[in-house]
Amino acid sequence: MSKNFLDDFPILRTQMNGHALAYLDNSATTQKPDSVVRAICGYYGGCNANPHRGVYELSVKATQVYEDARRKVAKFINAKSAREIIFTKNATESLNLIAYSCGLTNLHAGDEILITVAEHHSNLVPWQMVAKSTGAKLNYIYLTADGNLSAADIDAKLTRRTKILAVTQISNVLGLVNDVKTLAAKAHEVGAIVVVDGAQSVPHIPVDVRDLDADFLAFSGHKMLSPMGIGVLYGKRKLLDEMPPFLRGGDMIEYVSEQETTFAELPQKFEAGTQNVGGAAGLSAAIDYLQSVGFDEISRIEHDLTTFAIDELKKIPYVELYGCDAPNKVGIVTFNIRDVHPHDVATILDAQGVAIRAGHHCAQPLMKFLGVNATCRASFYFYNTRRDVERLIDAVKTVRGVMHLA
Ligand code: ALA
Repeated sequence: MSKNFLDDFPILRTQMNGHALAYLDNSATTQKPDSVVRAICGYYGGCNANPHRGVYELSVKATQVYEDARRKVAKFINAKSAREIIFTKNATESLNLIAYSCGLTNLHAGDEILITVAEHHSNLVPWQMVAKSTGAKLNYIYLTADGNLSAADIDAKLTRRTKILAVTQISNVLGLVNDVKTLAAKAHEVGAIVVVDGAQSVPHIPVDVRDLDADFLAFSGHKMLSPMGIGVLYGKRKLLDEMPPFLRGGDMIEYVSEQETTFAELPQKFEAGTQNVGGAAGLSAAIDYLQSVGFDEISRIEHDLTTFAIDELKKIPYVELYGCDAPNKVGIVTFNIRDVHPHDVATILDAQGVAIRAGHHCAQPLMKFLGVNATCRASFYFYNTRRDVERLIDAVKTVRGVMHLA
């Protein structure tokens, strides 16, 4: 029998628009359990000081909280060393760091960057910038009818000219899991660097950077029970060592003279300015919580909710589903209701306490590829229940009536 997670997430017991909240926008951000909130408050209430800078006990304690969190993250994703873990603001900042530091430094005219058409803008716009600045070409892997990456495109476009392959492990729109391990092996055969956007995968499936052989992995804390404002960049040490700093200023230096600066060792080289220690404390507590639930249980629950939602939505003749026939799918159901704009759908659902996201989901090239401007997206986490899905389905069935279409 599953634990009643609602006990740990007070926000999930609140009312919205006079209805119990059915929170189905977990791909945008997740809710935070009490233990994470307590860890953040505990940090600020008991050991707040600027880490790495003070010799006094409180600063030493803050440093310990921060560095313990780094070691926990390293273990969580099976990095070889905690030095390979850079704390950032979020996955977007991590991806920008790679683009500005590794991309701009290493790419030249004639080189190619390969991404997929299903990338979130955060793993697309920075590569457009690198391509424009260096003269490199930005290529795309498109999708097959079931929403998976086209094997023909991968074979044709991953060549010796490809210097960077940047790919999401799970699409934030379709929820399809890409076989990053196989892609990384193919990319390494042609000498490309492999960047994995793990924003939607790390919260939902076990991610082992050494097993994947990812050169870089980016993810956000807030999509995995942690506060907003803490993110992670994992990078292989050799690559990070060779890269110039992204941001410059306090705590990332070794020695500064009037005209020159030498930089600190990893990971401080990439952590300019006062860092988000409270966020790191929250992320550490979030990892503890996720591990106490276990990824087997998380997958079991999300698979059940996803298949239940798809099966029920398929029974509604005016609902169109996207990428819902592939088996490699995690926790995300994207759909439209015929003749109704997704924003109207989301507003009508909200009036019934059901929170979903509607729009382009920061993936406009994918929307164009699918031939739509926008979709509705329900995204689940382990604390959701079949009752939440029933509420979604019941609310979807009211939409055309509210719009005077049925
Ligand atoms: N990347 C987040 C989403 O997909 C915001 O909703």
